[in-house]
Amino acid sequence: MDKIVSLCKRRGFIFPCSEIYGGFANSYTYGPYGVELKRNIKDLWWKMFVSDREDMVGIDGPIILHPKVWEASGHTTNFNDAMVDCKKCKNRFRADHLVDEATGEDMEGKLDEMTAVFASGKISCPNCGKKDWTEVRSFNMMFETKMNTVSGEEANMAYLRPETAQAIFIEFKNVIDSTRVKLPFGIAQIGKAFRNEIVAGNFIFRLREFEQMEIEYFINPKMKWEKMFNDWLVFQEEFAYRLGAKKEDLRHYEHPDEKRAFYSKKTIDIEYNFPFGFKELFGLAHRSDYDLKRHAEFSGQKLEYLDQETNEKFIPHVLEPTFGLDRSILVALLAAYREEEVEGEVRTVMAFPKDIAPVQVAVFPLLKNKENLVAKAREVFGMLKKEFRVEFDDNGNIGKRYRRQDEIGTPYCVTIDFDTLEDNTVTIRDRDTMKQERVKISDLAEGLS
Ligand code: GAP
Repeated sequence: MDKIVSLCKRRGFIFPCSEIYGGFANSYTYGPYGVELKRNIKDLWWKMFVSDREDMVGIDGPIILHPKVWEASGHTTNFNDAMVDCKKCKNRFRADHLVDEATGEDMEGKLDEMTAVFASGKISCPNCGKKDWTEVRSFNMMFETKMNTVSGEEANMAYLRPETAQAIFIEFKNVIDSTRVKLPFGIAQIGKAFRNEIVAGNFIFRLREFEQMEIEYFINPKMKWEKMFNDWLVFQEEFAYRLGAKKEDLRHYEHPDEKRAFYSKKTIDIEYNFPFGFKELFGLAHRSDYDLKRHAEFSGQKLEYLDQETNEKFIPHVLEPTFGLDRSILVALLAAYREEEVEGEVRTVMAFPKDIAPVQVAVFPLLKNKENLVAKAREVFGMLKKEFRVEFDDNGNIGKRYRRQDEIGTPYCVTIDFDTLEDNTVTIRDRDTMKQERVKISDLAEGLS
């Protein structure tokens, strides 16, 4: 993980944010290559789950929604983590995590029992080693904000959305009234979500501000949903493979009855083998008609679907495949990282799948001070730019340029040399095999596809 974090900073993928002000915990900036990787992953997701499917449409809702949305969804009362403070060093921790580590018992949601464990002296503060704890309290994870505040007036409280899903449910009626969707169909959205995590960390794994890619897939309550649920799991895993994940690094965790929300018929986390253990990457939940029913109740609107064939009206049930974008990026980075020995030196390669690599082709003139080579290289760059994400690099010797592109994860490097000026051929060098091949410029685009 340390190697990934350092490569990300050195090569412009991800920077710790606000560094010039001494840093700001758990916030990161996607740098020039990181932002490309992020865009490519979003595009891949949108293509797989929206553009390539006939049963999906997309929306893009706001981050600040009507505050009643969060009452209806249950977030204002239930979106809580258990926290405990060390009275000596004043650090705050997730109580259930510390209890689990110390006793192996999962006491999520059981505040009194957890308080008793802390009082029994079994748990030392991970920061200062003392055992002087507050009682365990519930902490709402939604970020509050104030709207239209004029000094002296009472503020209108609003929240930064803690998930993108609710922005989809509240537009259900608009989508069915304005499009030709028929059950089963899904609405997708990619966007920011905010959670006041007590302990963020592990680089971009747990952030306070992150992006989700979510789908609410509406089905007829009478349909047999089990097969469709399994199909969604397969689609979600397929997406993980497209990021570069290996089969053996994925596993399922099915939420047992006592941990599952009362309205959910089934919930499965797809976990990835991160350097800090198997942890949730994506989730899939059967949410029944809970959300639409609650929004119907709180808004007073009918959120029903009319089946044109049977003339039946009903509230659909929902399958919710959810994906964390930042965790997807972390998986792509971890899965791509390789070190290998080449001629007594360590070569670091980010072997991204070609369609998500930030740069697909790098174009080099052999020498930067030979005008005719540079002009030809610019011509090739201009030609490839129409089809690929291309970078022009004339800095340093060719070996160094190859190493730099290996660390960025560029699948191909194209070198323009003196022979090019004679016979219009160039050298293509493959990132993974390091093999070099001579091809005609006219065949180049095909050779790189
Ligand atoms: N609408 C359902 C929902 O939000 P979730 O399991 O709380 O479910 C969905 O979140 C996904 O969002 C997770 O599988 C994870 O990939 C990502 N995620 C959740 N909390 C996160 C955080 N603090 N930082 C980064 N990603 C997070």
